[in-house]
Amino acid sequence: MPDPRPLPFPAAIERAGVPRHVAIVMDGSGRWAQRRGLARTEGHGAGEESLVDTTYGALAVGVKALTVFAFSTENWRRPVDEVRYLMNFNRGLLERRQHELHADGVRIVFSGRRDWRVPKGLLRRMDEAAELTKNNKDLTLNIAFNYGGRAEIVDVVRELVKDKVPIKKIDEKTIRQRLYHPELPDPDLVIRTSGEYRISNFLLWEMAYSELIFSDVLWPDFRREDLYDAIVKYQHRERRYGGVDE
Ligand code: IPE
Ligand code: IPE
Ligand code: MG
Repeated sequence: MPDPRPLPFPAAIERAGVPRHVAIVMDGSGRWAQRRGLARTEGHGAGEESLVDTTYGALAVGVKALTVFAFSTENWRRPVDEVRYLMNFNRGLLERRQHELHADGVRIVFSGRRDWRVPKGLLRRMDEAAELTKNNKDLTLNIAFNYGGRAEIVDVVRELVKDKVPIKKIDEKTIRQRLYHPELPDPDLVIRTSGEYRISNFLLWEMAYSELIFSDVLWPDFRREDLYDAIVKYQHRERRYGGVDE
């Protein structure tokens, strides 16, 4: 892999309007592999380079948070071999990459349910990566693993009940405080790769006012330049939040 540094700032991007938080549905790895006559799992493996390169792209332009959808609460429906591959792959990815990401100022966090189906060894790696990188400030890489937008909202409701929050105190603020990562701003920009036009249960609460960009690129082909293209498109959008133009 080429040394990700130095990280030049791309001329097409306006420095003042860089999104603070970008979220990506990393989709199309299975199709990428099938088109090459490979097993679907080969596509997941090939996506590692995309993730690392995109993370360095986010660092280069000063994005402060990057959330990536790695495994959904619905992905358990896949064949057991593929699920097992994904568990091992994500554990290996953390083992291989956490030290370089740490050295480059990336804080790694996770969003999702830590239920019995997630192997203990992977949970340990996740805790280790989070602990190692917890004081880093340049970029937060939030890995959505065993994540579902509906599950997150259910978990918020459970917390509200557990905390005995009175009905009158239940509002957007008390809900937000109980999200998996309340410290992260809502994503400004959500990208989905592979030409699919759906949300697939990603960040349902958080993306209420995100700008959505759909790319035909399959995830294993995605590189920082594709992130830059999406940011340039984002910078041409007009965000109104329900108001009117001045
Ligand atoms: C996304 O790629 C990765 C995960 C869901 C884990 P897919 O595996 O969904 O690839 P396609 O959509 O089948 O091509
Ligand atoms: C969404 O992709 C989940 C991840 C990228 C982890 P899927 O491939 O699972 O979504 P659907 O099934 O096409 O909606
Ligand atoms: Mg898919």
